Amino acid sequence: MNTTSPPPKPLIRVEGVSRSFGDVVALDDVSIDIHANEFFALLGPSGCGKTTLLRVLAGFEHPDAGTVTLDDVDLLGLPPHRRPVNLMFQSYALFPHMSVEANVAYGLERERRPKDEIRERVREVLATVGLSDKARNRPTQLSGGQRQRVALARAIVKRPRLLLLDEPLSALDRKVRAEMQLELKRLQHDVGITFVVVTHDQEEAMSMADRIAVLSHGRVQQTDSPVDLYQRPANTFVADFIGTSNAFDGSRVVGGVLVPGLGLLPGAAITGSGTSQATLVVRPEDITLVDEVSAVVSGEVIDTQFFGGSSRIAVMVPLHEVPIVVTRHGTAHVDRGARVHLAWSADKGVVLDAAE
Ligand SMILES: Nc1ncnc2c1ncn2[C@@H]1O[C@H](COP(=O)(O)OP(=O)(O)OP(=O)(O)O)[C@@H](O)[C@H]1O
Ligand SMILES: [Mg+2]
Repeated sequence: MNTTSPPPKPLIRVEGVSRSFGDVVALDDVSIDIHANEFFALLGPSGCGKTTLLRVLAGFEHPDAGTVTLDDVDLLGLPPHRRPVNLMFQSYALFPHMSVEANVAYGLERERRPKDEIRERVREVLATVGLSDKARNRPTQLSGGQRQRVALARAIVKRPRLLLLDEPLSALDRKVRAEMQLELKRLQHDVGITFVVVTHDQEEAMSMADRIAVLSHGRVQQTDSPVDLYQRPANTFVADFIGTSNAFDGSRVVGGVLVPGLGLLPGAAITGSGTSQATLVVRPEDITLVDEVSAVVSGEVIDTQFFGGSSRIAVMVPLHEVPIVVTRHGTAHVDRGARVHLAWSADKGVVLDAAE
């Protein structure tokens, strides 16, 4: 990568946005840049402020402080219908008495577009979402996944610069949901619209997004690519929220973290600011079973689970409260009660500032 070229200019720039409802701080000094044609995800637990942030972008909520610009133009001064932004709500409501094509055409008709143009754009967008043959159906004659696609078609037919999707797949069952995740990503690529998708499902965010902002209690914890969030979490919240991690509290020393009762645990990937109290995070797939002489820690297998392609082994280590989780390809090859020795290389141990 050419490190001298300037970073791409963001399409959307959110700076210092805060919003409170009485005592509840829904957004706390939020700053996020979103680039053109990016598939961006907002990820965080229930109540962390995701919907509130989308509503601020769409214009249904006004922040108490901060600025929001699109292509350097102030958005906050514009009413919702003047913004080149479309919000697909957490519960998308289709008109049950109208056909699929009428549902999709509705927004364009309200804009009083010429009839020919409406017909052509609806035809095009239904082809994009793969529903050309369902144009005359009512929503009740469709599956959940198909209804979802109608809602998407309705949102993209207006050609917004920015499409905001609030939990777009939450109503779907697991299998359809996985298909729709791929579909949504393909669609975003094909239509060339910038997507901001809200989800509280970390796997969903990881599988779809170019970048993810992780929120907790109205604050942005980290904004990064899925890989960087996973491999270089900025703090213990992110490490815990994204994937499974083993965490060890102790004090920061050269080569890792000194953990009471366990000794020096190796770590080299430092993402904290350098507090003396630190947490070492190691992913289950980075831990290997080794001979006693190479052991970092040793303990007893208390449980094994087989998931088809991989296995998970839980190991109880003396003086550590929670079991250490180890994953392996294929079957576990160890039995409950076995004594095992675990190790990982220092570059797989991430040293974070201790949680406050
Ligand atoms: N209009 C409102 N009046 C009062 N409190 C509100 C209002 N809107 C949101 N809140 C509060 O602000 C916080 C953030 O809400 P928000 O809807 O943004 O969360 P969320 O991250 O979308 O959660 P979920 O995943 O459950 O949809 C919550 O504590 C919520 O109760
Ligand atoms: Mg919400």
